Amino acid sequence: MMEQQTAQLAQNLMSLLERPDVAEAITVEGTQMVTDYLSDPQVRAYVQGLDVSSKVRLWGTPKQGMQILLHGAERPKKGAPHDHGESWALYYQVEGFTEMTSYHRLTGEQGQPGPAALEVFDVQKVQPGYAMFFGPHVIHSTRHPESPARWIRVTGDDLDYATRLRFSIERQEADLDTGK
Ligand SMILES: [Fe+2]
Repeated sequence: MMEQQTAQLAQNLMSLLERPDVAEAITVEGTQMVTDYLSDPQVRAYVQGLDVSSKVRLWGTPKQGMQILLHGAERPKKGAPHDHGESWALYYQVEGFTEMTSYHRLTGEQGQPGPAALEVFDVQKVQPGYAMFFGPHVIHSTRHPESPARWIRVTGDDLDYATRLRFSIERQEADLDTGK
């Protein structure tokens, strides 16, 4: 059963949350922890075999703190720019790649809906075994021009219930996404 390995990964990741250098710790040590988790052949086969037509909660309790999620793109897809509100996130690539674009907001206020002209400041191709960390309110979008792709996303909170923003590049506006 994978529950034990996944619970161990969660415990390891949570041990980083009290660190004063939490962003750096999750980026470097957290990424290594996910790599170690996936280096177990049973875990890898399990993660590769899950149906990712919708996101899979590998670990976590709805509405309660950290979540470990598995996502996939079975067809090419492109997401809108968004933030994760007050939550942090680590995107770890398992298979395929993610083109990750990061933005500065030039108008309006951080965390607030309203005018939001965006400027791209970074584009990364995240390959298997690599990850990107985003702190609270960092605006980013994902694109999967090639499929299949599969990635693990660790979030500080359950984003299904978090207040966050979704951005329209066309309208130059941020809309509140209050989740469920
Ligand atoms: Fe995101």
